[in-house]
Amino acid sequence: MRTIDWVDGAVELIDQTLLPDTLVMLRVTTVDDLIEAIQRLAVRGAPALGVAGAFGAVLAGGDPAAIARLRAARPTAVNLAWGVDQVAAAPPDKALDVALRIRDDDIAACHAMGLRGASLLEGSDLRIMTVCNTGGLACVERGTALGVVRTLHEQGRLGEVLALETRPLLQGARLTTWELAGMGAPHRLIADSAGPYLLSRLKVDAVLIGADRVAANGDTANKIGSYALALGARRAGVPFIVVAPESTIDAGTPSGADISIEDRDPVEIVQIRGVRLAPEGTAALNPAFDVTPHDLITAIVTESRVIRP
Ligand code: MRU
Repeated sequence: MRTIDWVDGAVELIDQTLLPDTLVMLRVTTVDDLIEAIQRLAVRGAPALGVAGAFGAVLAGGDPAAIARLRAARPTAVNLAWGVDQVAAAPPDKALDVALRIRDDDIAACHAMGLRGASLLEGSDLRIMTVCNTGGLACVERGTALGVVRTLHEQGRLGEVLALETRPLLQGARLTTWELAGMGAPHRLIADSAGPYLLSRLKVDAVLIGADRVAANGDTANKIGSYALALGARRAGVPFIVVAPESTIDAGTPSGADISIEDRDPVEIVQIRGVRLAPEGTAALNPAFDVTPHDLITAIVTESRVIRP
């Protein structure tokens, strides 16, 4: 099943807010409904946002105001604006063809990243740590970092995955575990704060993460918690590998300091699914992403190359 697709003149996507309990497809026919789906994370993950942006630009039909709103729906993943821009630049009668090519290229890129990432790791019974969800749900199919995990599993070389729960929206606990269970891959869920400690205590063969934007100098924005994992991995001598398509590399952003980091509603910190945790009126800060400096990254794997510091 594809996470997002174009079906009979509309965008169809899995509503990821309802997983793992309910698998519901949403059918979206307007730009404003698509923006709403993006902002509440019904569709999420940088490559899937690129495809959503492309399909959304088809729905926009050349309306500059709708295109501008769609580009800005979420700021950090460069793929969203990239997907919108590719389609907006095409002649109107070619817009859907361009969007479908972006979808197909994403599928091909995930296959290629899976093989290239798996070939970087030697041996078998590998223990991999990961954060957020970088699987098929974050792309069209298969995924980036979790696509490498899938390939390792298919090759019979995966020992287990340690998946960080990924507070506050729990993409790791809800989505990554769902995908790993679906592929029959051994995994254990850990609290985010246990990640660096477990890197220092267990034999972990690699940390594999995705990316929302890679700056020109290699600094990488990804889900909040990635930077702490990178520090822990460096201290423990564990390879820290970013897996992302070329469309996530943003040569126009010089360094991590120039990446716009999404600040989300503080209510996501003080509540979980409508249940308040902190005292009424507690202030909260909710950066959705952080930036890992390039010198903490062992390698960046794309569909066409391996980039090292
Ligand atoms: O807020 P999200 O769920 O969209 O964040 C997603 C991530 O941080 C992913 O790691 C990143 O987009 C890469 S997905 C292959």
